[in-house]
Amino acid sequence: MTITKLYMAPVRGITDIIYRNVFHKHFSGIDTAITPFITTVHGDQIKSSQKEEFISNDNLIPIIPQIIGKSPSNFITLAKTVFDLGNAEANWNLGCPYPTMTKKRCGAGLIAHADLVDQFLDTVCSAIPNRISIKVRLGLLNRDELENLIPLFNRYPITEITIHPRTGKQMYGGVVDLEMFELYKEQLLIPVIYNGDITTLDHFQKLKARFPNLNKWMLGRGLFSNPMLAQEIKRGVCTDAAERTERIIKFSDELLCCYRKRLSGDTHLMQKMVAHWEYLHQCFPQGKKIYKQLKKSLTTNLH
Ligand SMILES: Cc1cc2nc3c(=O)[nH]c(=O)nc-3n(C[C@H](O)[C@H](O)[C@H](O)COP(=O)(O)O)c2cc1C
Repeated sequence: MTITKLYMAPVRGITDIIYRNVFHKHFSGIDTAITPFITTVHGDQIKSSQKEEFISNDNLIPIIPQIIGKSPSNFITLAKTVFDLGNAEANWNLGCPYPTMTKKRCGAGLIAHADLVDQFLDTVCSAIPNRISIKVRLGLLNRDELENLIPLFNRYPITEITIHPRTGKQMYGGVVDLEMFELYKEQLLIPVIYNGDITTLDHFQKLKARFPNLNKWMLGRGLFSNPMLAQEIKRGVCTDAAERTERIIKFSDELLCCYRKRLSGDTHLMQKMVAHWEYLHQCFPQGKKIYKQLKKSLTTNLH
């Protein structure tokens, strides 16, 4: 039987160090978290206030810090910094769909430029072989853009590739393209992680039946809505609704407590909790109402 490895997806504004640590205390099932991409100063230095986010800690969820950019030398400098913080691997973001990034040919904006990707990997993999993984979409505008990158990926010592089977143009909506995922997965000689829209145990099991040999899966919004999803997938059973409610409330209380110590002012704190409850409310039958009230109290506080 294949052992299922589960990754926590990187999501800016959600999967910061506080979330990851409180998650680890309250829930199980996640083997590794890829961090949201690093914000830099001068392109190749991690802001000192952000360094803590990327320190490896044996007692917490193992992390793979993510870096976005197209400059190989900046990437190498940043990767060496995260290795010095105790991490074994750095992840290259080839999937960010936001125009601020794609216009600069970063994230998904690089997928259609095989020559640039080739030059990047040639330089980076010579400097840090076997220590880089990639997270990618099908393309920026078209789902076949990735096709030209597959032979390149196969030539370089890359540890694993996460595929989120949407184009950048789709952002996070529309449907995931499982046919294209399957096509690319078959062509890749590197271990592949599937990512996209896994929201329930039942949904995971259907995907697993379609890709029985795949044992690496990444959970994002489905996990943030139901933080017990990873555990449910590992154990093959759904959690009782009452138990889930109780545990999510305790989890949310501790998140609030930890963010209160970290963030300055009630407005920042409320904004952060609203961001988490944008997902968590989906787990409750009355969730929409609770979330509406939370958002309303935020706007009332702001005025
Ligand atoms: C608000 C938001 C922020 C995100 N930030 C990142 C990021 O920093 N790096 C990254 O690789 N993906 C990022 N993603 C994409 C997720 O990692 C993931 O690929 C996407 O949500 C699809 O998976 P899901 O359907 O399981 O959520 C972000 C997604 C959202 C919605």
